[in-house]
Amino acid sequence: MTTATYERTLASAKKATWEIDDVLGPTSRLDFSKPFMPESLARVEGSGFLDPVQRRLLNQIRGHAYLSIFGLVEEFILPFVMDHARPGLAQDDWRTRALLQFAGEEAKHIQLFKRFREAFERGFGHRCGTIGPPEAVAAHILSHDPLGVALVILHIEWMTQRHYLDSVRTDEGLDPLFKSLLKHHWMEEAQHARLDGLMVEALAQGKGEEEIARGVDAYLSIGGFLDQGLAQQVDFDLDALERASGRKLGEAERTALKAQQHQANRWTYLGSGMSHPEFLGTVGRLSPRQRERLAGVAPAFG
Ligand SMILES: [Fe+2]
Ligand SMILES: [Fe+2]
Repeated sequence: MTTATYERTLASAKKATWEIDDVLGPTSRLDFSKPFMPESLARVEGSGFLDPVQRRLLNQIRGHAYLSIFGLVEEFILPFVMDHARPGLAQDDWRTRALLQFAGEEAKHIQLFKRFREAFERGFGHRCGTIGPPEAVAAHILSHDPLGVALVILHIEWMTQRHYLDSVRTDEGLDPLFKSLLKHHWMEEAQHARLDGLMVEALAQGKGEEEIARGVDAYLSIGGFLDQGLAQQVDFDLDALERASGRKLGEAERTALKAQQHQANRWTYLGSGMSHPEFLGTVGRLSPRQRERLAGVAPAFG
């Protein structure tokens, strides 16, 4: 049954696969007259004291942060998937091939996000700070209970699905290259979400209610760690906005914008994954009580 899922997932992955040059050529240019992020994630239009140009700049800076945050999370997904694959390499050929395909795609995504960052930096003309470094973030996250890490990865895959399907697919105003990035990422992440579901099930196998609860504790602790990183990222984003627009925000403006953008980031990276019905469905199959627990926490990140 599980073997058949690996086989099917590998077949879908082969159909969906693409090359980096198909998405962004080495000298392609992003269109800085357009927003990069859908408004439901960027939430810049409600910032009354920013003019339209400043809102677009903030939207693009949020796009840059998206590239770097995905670069960051994919750096811990890759070693985790490799470590999960390794002990079973000889047992199930379909499992081995599907997980190696998954790992290879994440390595490609890391490279693609880097290429987009280079294109962004070529065109934007102002420095944008980012949280990290990725190796330190990965080391901290991977020090947690593996079930908790697998739940974070499952959350990220479903969150990526939601970003594209709910917000990007029908948005005709975005920079076409950025839109294409989010589309191509969605295409491959659809298979990852299924494989992550199997990873979570494998790691939860034979575990009692208490051990599952510990895995969910680890998931929430990683979520809290990421949330602190998001708060720090908002400060970097507002610094970049000031540099790019030449406008210094007043203290009250900055406090209000920081709170509003922190919540927008929480929805983008935490709430949209944690409240995803498929993510909650997987957690519910491990423990209905833990599903209720997460469903209760998720609205804080809305
Ligand atoms: Fe990815
Ligand atoms: Fe992925």
